Amino acid sequence: MNWFKQQLANVVGTEEPEYGPTAVQPVTKQDVPYSILSKDDLRWKAMDHTNVETETFYFYTDDGTTAMAQVIYSNVGGLHTTAQFNSKIFNYEGPGKHLWCSDPLKDYGFDEPKTSFYADNVALEMNEAGDTYTIKSARNDNCIVNLTVKRAAPGFQLGKDGTTYFGTDKNHPWGSMRHAFWPRCTVTGTMQTPTKTYNLEGKGTYIYALQGMKPHHLANRWNFANIHTKDYSAVLMEYTTPASYGNTTVGVGGIAKDGELICAGECTAEHLTSMRETPHDWPEPRTILWKWSGQEDGKAVHSEVRGSLPVKSDRVDVLAHLPGFVKSFIGHATGLKPHIFQYLSNDELELKVKVGDEAEVSEPGKVFTEATFIS
Ligand SMILES: *[C@@H]1O[C@H](CO)[C@@H](O)[C@H](O)[C@H]1NC(C)=O
Ligand SMILES: *[C@@H]1O[C@H](CO)[C@@H](O)[C@H](O)[C@H]1NC(C)=O
Repeated sequence: MNWFKQQLANVVGTEEPEYGPTAVQPVTKQDVPYSILSKDDLRWKAMDHTNVETETFYFYTDDGTTAMAQVIYSNVGGLHTTAQFNSKIFNYEGPGKHLWCSDPLKDYGFDEPKTSFYADNVALEMNEAGDTYTIKSARNDNCIVNLTVKRAAPGFQLGKDGTTYFGTDKNHPWGSMRHAFWPRCTVTGTMQTPTKTYNLEGKGTYIYALQGMKPHHLANRWNFANIHTKDYSAVLMEYTTPASYGNTTVGVGGIAKDGELICAGECTAEHLTSMRETPHDWPEPRTILWKWSGQEDGKAVHSEVRGSLPVKSDRVDVLAHLPGFVKSFIGHATGLKPHIFQYLSNDELELKVKVGDEAEVSEPGKVFTEATFIS
């Protein structure tokens, strides 16, 4: 019966019944706390049922520019696939505050090992050694991308496979959510706009994500935080399932130094205070507390960022930005439109790291964070 209801929900896009929290198996509960990524772990899955797969790169240049680039590959109902290339340069020099380019792709596909993606005017390639991506796009003249992202610390995923499973039968899950991270990378190359060529020399973070089911059935709240200090890079991804999976919150992330993973494990993201622009709006976070925990060589690692967020950098209307196929899934439940609040902060927030009984280290850093409200 559950299988039938699930199929019905998949086809007609209805809300799911309340299966409860036992119908989700968070990756944070797996026996293996985390695993180091190999090249194999970063193959595109290109699954043949509804899912959204993304490879996203965040850039923080030494001279203060923040940017991102992303390939989205998705399958709708097992019927057709789409691919999209997105890029964003925050606070760029040109009309409008940020430069956002989002373009559907044609003639897309993968190389044989499925570690590289190609499309008309776009290539996202992993090298032979499995430690570097090159990102090239001439898909949109407003943002011509030519970047190299090199892993500067081990990549990781939580558990043995980075995956939280959804479904009432643990042995036959009907959905999944996976994240894999390169927390600390070096970035070189350019993003070229009609007015300026941005030299994106600096640090970066890479995240592979697979939402192996309709995205809005997996999560209705997201928190994402990415920090680069002088010595550390930290990444955190937290999501909360809809009521159908008991409003279960899963938080994953880790911290790295050059050449070394400091911790990978369960994370939490709290909005200590929030505000609404109007009474009928989402509660936008104002002060936050992000926490990381894990083990390094048998020593407990605790880390946190606590403080006020600056004025938001952007407020993204998810429906306006998503490719049409995802749009068709969402937009009925609450009457409130899904929104992402984005913030950039430069040296205003500090990452505190405590390893075993060593002295706590505290370093200010460049921060990009998002709070997403879907339904
Ligand atoms: C892209 O960057 C690489 C290395 O920085 C350079 O050798 C190459 O010529 C660039 N390609 C284009 C099309 O600009
Ligand atoms: C989940 O959250 C919704 C909205 O906040 C609430 O109405 C519902 O009771 C919660 N369900 C569970 C199982 O906690």
